[in-house]
Amino acid sequence: MDGGHALDKAIELINVSKLYPGVSALTDVTFSVKKGSVHGFLGPNGAGKSTTMNIITGLIPPTGGTVKVFGEDVQANPESARRKIGFLPEHAPLYENMKVSEYLKFVQSINSLRSTVNSDDYLETLELCGLTEVSHRLIKNLSKGFRQRVAIAQALIGRPEIVILDEPTVGLDPKAIVEIRELIYSLREKHTILLSTHILHEVNLICDHITIINKGIITSTGPIHEIQGGEEGTQIILAEVLNWKDELRPVLFRDLPLEDLLVEKSGSDTRLTFKLKGKDDYRGWISDILVKNQCSLLQLSKQTVDVENLFKSATAEKPTKGRVQ
Ligand SMILES: Nc1ncnc2c1ncn2[C@@H]1O[C@H](COP(=O)(O)OP(=O)(O)OP(=O)(O)O)[C@@H](O)[C@H]1O
Ligand SMILES: [Mg+2]
Repeated sequence: MDGGHALDKAIELINVSKLYPGVSALTDVTFSVKKGSVHGFLGPNGAGKSTTMNIITGLIPPTGGTVKVFGEDVQANPESARRKIGFLPEHAPLYENMKVSEYLKFVQSINSLRSTVNSDDYLETLELCGLTEVSHRLIKNLSKGFRQRVAIAQALIGRPEIVILDEPTVGLDPKAIVEIRELIYSLREKHTILLSTHILHEVNLICDHITIINKGIITSTGPIHEIQGGEEGTQIILAEVLNWKDELRPVLFRDLPLEDLLVEKSGSDTRLTFKLKGKDDYRGWISDILVKNQCSLLQLSKQTVDVENLFKSATAEKPTKGRVQ
């Protein structure tokens, strides 16, 4: 189903390897990122996520293999690839003594050397990232969550077709995590997004495609629903509600075959992730219970993937080729 035309593939890696002295960081990494998708790149510490992203963006060369961006070889034409990609690196360099506005204008002026400038771009990016109100403040005085918004904003300046985010929510408090996830989610209509994370739940919340990497080897890749395809057992249902009350928790546990319920508040909205046992479609039940308890349902969707199990089975066994940690 997936694949086919080259232009469907925003990013394609074919047998990419990376050797550091004494370390095989990537071994035959092959996967593609579909145009228009939100693709989660999942793996534990040291799995090779950042190395892969640095290779896609042309910052470091692979030892072997090919990377294509919209069908074009990154090594043969790094400038062209870079123009199409906005990148939030793992340790985003921010100019601490600049104001938010100065910094983003600075990034825009650098980008303008290689792409056409739309003068509204900078203001739109401020707005999109919720930075308008802090635009006059020095970056060094901002909270971590806001600094991360600035770091994401610099990746969006110039409206690249592809946005690559290396662990965008790492080190943030729960409120900031929800806000940054929402920001990323809002980007999906205009950009192809590849984001790395080691948070399994994050993938379930915002991604439609997933690639799992462990010790430099891809263990599964594809649309979330196809990866899980057919496996019986656990199901995930996501709901967004207004007027959530914590008293509803025991009610839901009583009336549903719930294994787990994750509650994330974001302003007046609350996002609920139900982990349920069984094959029945519980959406009707969930909706009934919520509505009966004066919770307005904003959104309800079913995801059959249990990323957690997928991840555990991918990272558990599998003896891998000579890898020094
Ligand atoms: N410059 C380097 N020199 C030598 N080894 C490196 C270098 N960069 C990364 N590595 C090694 O390559 C492997 C993959 O590292 P990488 O940073 O890509 O993993 P990661 O999945 O991003 O991990 P994390 O979740 O901790 O960010 C690790 O074993 C790491 O120690
Ligand atoms: Mg990393």
